[in-house]
Amino acid sequence: MAFDIDMIKKVYSQFDGRIQAARKIVNKPLTLSEKILYAHLWEGNATETYERGNSYVDFAPDRVTMQDATAQMALLQFMQAGRPKVAVPSTVHCDHLIQARDGAEQDLNRAKQESSEVFNFLSSVSNKYGIGFWKPGAGIIHQVMLENYAFPGGMMIGTDSHTVNAGGLGMIAIGVGGADACDVMAGLPWELKFPKLIGVKLTGKLSGWTSPKDVILKVAGILTVKGGTGAIVEYFGEGAESMSCTGKGTICNMGAEIGATTSTFGYDESMERYLRSTNRADVADAANEIKQHLTADPEVYADPETYFDQVIEINLSELEPSLNGPFTPDLYTPVSRMREESSKNGWPTKVEWGLIGSCTNSSYEDLARAASIARQAIEKGLDIKAEFGINPGSEQVRYTADRDGLIKTFTDLNATIFTNACGPCIGMWDRAGSDKQEKNTIVHSFNRNFAKRADGNPNTYAFVTSPEMVAAIAISGDLGFNPVTDTLTNKNGEQVKLDPPTGDELPARGFAVEDAGYQAPAEDGSGVQVAVSPTSDRLQLLEPFVAWEGTDLKGLKVLIKAKGKCTTDHISMAGPWLKYRGHLDNISNNMLIGAVNYFNDKTDFVKNQLTGQYGPVPATQRAYKAAGIGSIVVGDENYGEGSSREHAAMEPRHLGVRAVLVKSFARIHETNLKKQGMLGLTFANKDDYDKILENDTVDIVGLTTFAPNTPLTLVLHHADGTSEEISVNHTYNQQQIEWFKAGGALNIIRRNQAN
Ligand code: F3S
Repeated sequence: MAFDIDMIKKVYSQFDGRIQAARKIVNKPLTLSEKILYAHLWEGNATETYERGNSYVDFAPDRVTMQDATAQMALLQFMQAGRPKVAVPSTVHCDHLIQARDGAEQDLNRAKQESSEVFNFLSSVSNKYGIGFWKPGAGIIHQVMLENYAFPGGMMIGTDSHTVNAGGLGMIAIGVGGADACDVMAGLPWELKFPKLIGVKLTGKLSGWTSPKDVILKVAGILTVKGGTGAIVEYFGEGAESMSCTGKGTICNMGAEIGATTSTFGYDESMERYLRSTNRADVADAANEIKQHLTADPEVYADPETYFDQVIEINLSELEPSLNGPFTPDLYTPVSRMREESSKNGWPTKVEWGLIGSCTNSSYEDLARAASIARQAIEKGLDIKAEFGINPGSEQVRYTADRDGLIKTFTDLNATIFTNACGPCIGMWDRAGSDKQEKNTIVHSFNRNFAKRADGNPNTYAFVTSPEMVAAIAISGDLGFNPVTDTLTNKNGEQVKLDPPTGDELPARGFAVEDAGYQAPAEDGSGVQVAVSPTSDRLQLLEPFVAWEGTDLKGLKVLIKAKGKCTTDHISMAGPWLKYRGHLDNISNNMLIGAVNYFNDKTDFVKNQLTGQYGPVPATQRAYKAAGIGSIVVGDENYGEGSSREHAAMEPRHLGVRAVLVKSFARIHETNLKKQGMLGLTFANKDDYDKILENDTVDIVGLTTFAPNTPLTLVLHHADGTSEEISVNHTYNQQQIEWFKAGGALNIIRRNQAN
């Protein structure tokens, strides 16, 4: 299964020369992030300094990772690229399509039946094109990645926004759309705007109930969901070194929740311990040889203000356990204030479910610490008040945790052990009674808590916290319970207190697993058939999008003016729609159904300007398409935040939307729009958002001279016969303009392969 030590050694052999070259050009000490970036330049040695937050740079990632929901479209696209094998080591992980309901075994069997067509497609396409395939039940992509492939100083892209988790092992790992993954697997460079750098200095040491999760919950509270946009967050300091590698992974994982490009930590002893414990002593040895390049130059951490664009300092010794939420991961509440805040805000305090798992917090250490709380509950005669569910991060974690008695501790406390998969974290949770849409509270150790995310119920108040806090709060059944100070009444009527969690960072007897769930690809995949049935409702081979017609776009109808938060979940909802990820036409029936229409405050209810009737967004757009009329989608700030799913860009493209005009974009979504040949535009003056009216028809002018750094003009034709012009900006560089003209980046890749 394994990581490719020769590849890693080759990468490391280039570090010294490339970093020396970069240091000469940049002419100052380098951060770790810069070292890794400069060591992965597509062109080899640096020949120019890149401007943070501005320059588009081509990189050569070492690895590509994909999960089953996004891999379908990424690989359908890759099949169009005309290559016999992937150009860089790549893996597929089946973790998103397994619904949690009854427990691991039943749920896994059901998923295998329901999604056999997709799993078979992914297995065969992986086999054919030289891609490692992790079967359903093998684990959550980012946990499996950390355990098997991530390496200090490496660069990876993945078709999932929490790919950033691998920063816990010192990588620059970035979530991308399937189109980017397709490019890299096809042997092309990967382009990224050179990020800004945020330094987070961690002093002190975690103790008691606080955990790495509390670090990132605090950072999210400080930076908010937008604060990391366009930046790499680099953690350093004695506090960083005192944390486990998987704890660092937790922190990097939730960097996605602050919009950061990625997060990372310098190579240290915790990473070495983790590598050795997960059977990769040779990677640790290789990393030790170039240690000085796997952390920043000493001057940087001595004087961070000089070298980072922003610096935050957190004293871990003063940090409190906290719970972020509801409905957004940046609403930070330390546990000591939760009772007061919940009563002030009307958050239900009766906790119905405690869920441990997700790529954020499903390591051995996470389970061990949570189990130490569960064990105390049993020993101290406490019943658990809430329902309790656990998704282990990988089969290796589950098997080892089972061997070490942790799983039994959970089940003794009535926990349901779900499959080693995403489950409730991505809405794949058949929660009994959620259709009644009752107001209720759950706590979980996941990363995201947008409305409806876990169970589809808009009235579920979800709070994000550490696994040990989930255990404690589930036991108490009370959101306001503070295990640091409060007692609980046990079965004998006695007041008992939970001691702070304990748990091994790594299993004392080492990791073990019987069948990790890995399938190696065929040496020669040329004879492997990839079957996609033409009648399938889950998979559909792609047709190339048509090229730009060469003129300005005239007469576009305003499809929807989205109000407020419009994440990729709002644009292309997950949950039940995940099953259509490989079928563009079918999944397009969820396009923008979660977005709030500015004109009536309703979701999935927009005006068809041709008939004057109101109806669902997808049906309205299909009507425009049938009439040969283009449309425009208007949005608010940070449009497309959330996941990396390119469906959020492909669906509007497929249904004939021509442009998306917003106050600001989330980075991945903006790139995805560009890849699909869409126009992603921003208001030059954000107040112009108010000028867009429900019955407007819009022209986009200036496309025949479309050029980098040159605004375009929109002409708004209002229903009363008046019209006005507004200026709109874009971030297309020359290459991206070519994608637009060709009708999408893939059209250019295929053309180049053929030549
Ligand atoms: Fe899966 Fe949730 Fe992570 S969906 S990859 S566990 S964010």
